[in-house]
Amino acid sequence: MAAVAAAAPRDIQYYLRPGVLQLAALPPLSLYVHLPWCLKKCPYCDFNSHEMRVDKMPEQRYLDALLADLEAALPLIWGRTVHSIFIGGGTPSLFSPEAIDHLLGGIRSRLRLQPDCEVTLEANPGTFEKERFKAYRGAGVNRLSLGVQSFNDDFLKILGRVHNRAQALAAIEEAAQAFDTFNLDIMYALPGQTLDDLKLDMATALALAPPHISIYHLTIEPNTYFAKFLPVLPTDDAAYDMLDLITEMTGAAGLKRYEVSAYARDGHRCFHNLNYWKFGDYLGLGAGAHSKLSFAHRVVRQVRFREPVQYMKNALAGHCLAQETQVSSADLPFEFMLNALRLKDGFALQHFYERTGLSITSIQSALDLAERKGLLERDLVRVKPSELGFDFLNDLQSLFLPSQP
Ligand SMILES: C[S@@+](CC[C@H](N)C(=O)[O-])C[C@H]1O[C@@H](n2cnc3c(N)ncnc32)[C@H](O)[C@@H]1O
Ligand code: SF4
Repeated sequence: MAAVAAAAPRDIQYYLRPGVLQLAALPPLSLYVHLPWCLKKCPYCDFNSHEMRVDKMPEQRYLDALLADLEAALPLIWGRTVHSIFIGGGTPSLFSPEAIDHLLGGIRSRLRLQPDCEVTLEANPGTFEKERFKAYRGAGVNRLSLGVQSFNDDFLKILGRVHNRAQALAAIEEAAQAFDTFNLDIMYALPGQTLDDLKLDMATALALAPPHISIYHLTIEPNTYFAKFLPVLPTDDAAYDMLDLITEMTGAAGLKRYEVSAYARDGHRCFHNLNYWKFGDYLGLGAGAHSKLSFAHRVVRQVRFREPVQYMKNALAGHCLAQETQVSSADLPFEFMLNALRLKDGFALQHFYERTGLSITSIQSALDLAERKGLLERDLVRVKPSELGFDFLNDLQSLFLPSQP
């Protein structure tokens, strides 16, 4: 992948110029908007989130920067329809419903949205006030994603969360009233957690009948507080037992696992995340946001300035790109497979061709090897990870790494 130095705005002709790639059609386009502040940094978190007091948060200036950012990016997505919007963080629910209304109004007036466009907002139970979720709904949000993590006050404390069990339950009750569809984020393999602790968390979550749950194995990320002061974690074997329990309990409650960490009732899969995993396009607005955009002859990745003050200054001056790269043809198959193999149903062969512009024969030997190892299943139209491949996903994905020159 050839890195291009930080990143003067380019004329659209630059992206449209001839190249080796020939994409027959462009994939669905999603919009991601990053709101980078939180009341308190959690000890496990390596997202681009920064501690901030609500009364100090430069809400209006950030909104202005986001809309300037969008304005500058418009030529790159000219004429395309937006299929989903995800307002993530950080803690987007620190922003007032009026601010979200202003943001979505600004987006709607500049872009064509699909009539049933999914609009998700991430919310933390600790920033919840009565009626707030209804006001987000009124602003045009139609899906809420609640960062619950656990219902156990001891674990919430260990995770440094600003909410407790009672607040989580109250927030879910209001989410269920205000939204037809919502998600709960839960984490497992927490410091000191037993299988019985997890069983209680899962039973509590499932009793609330969420249409969607995302369940993440707690990972220790570099440069976090937990990386420096490593807590005692469940063993790998205990974590596998936990995953078995999760699969069993979600299945019994009518939630299907459709991606490594995502479980949904029929009709409630998250379009936005599915678009990432199906190697669709996304424009990322906001501090540190990532974009992946296809053009007829190339696929481009962009990263915005990560630090919020620097981002706002640059976005308002019309140049918020910290980095831009073009994905090389050699890297495209691996990037596609890294995402598509996370899906339980895998992908259609036709899809590989549409998204990468490459024939499936470009990964034939890796497909054959993966099948021989029992990691993959395929027929004439689809490829999907086997049960074994899903359990050893890294091994499966690594078979598609580009060979070194
Ligand atoms: C983008 S985060 C932010 C959502 C929201 N700010 C919150 O924390 O409630 C989305 C989710 O990623 C998960 N997550 C964050 N850091 C993680 C880690 N180190 N290991 C596993 N899951 C993590 C959490 O479940 C979190 O809700
Ligand atoms: S609230 Fe979410 S984004 Fe903020 S620090 Fe905690 S995990 Fe990270």
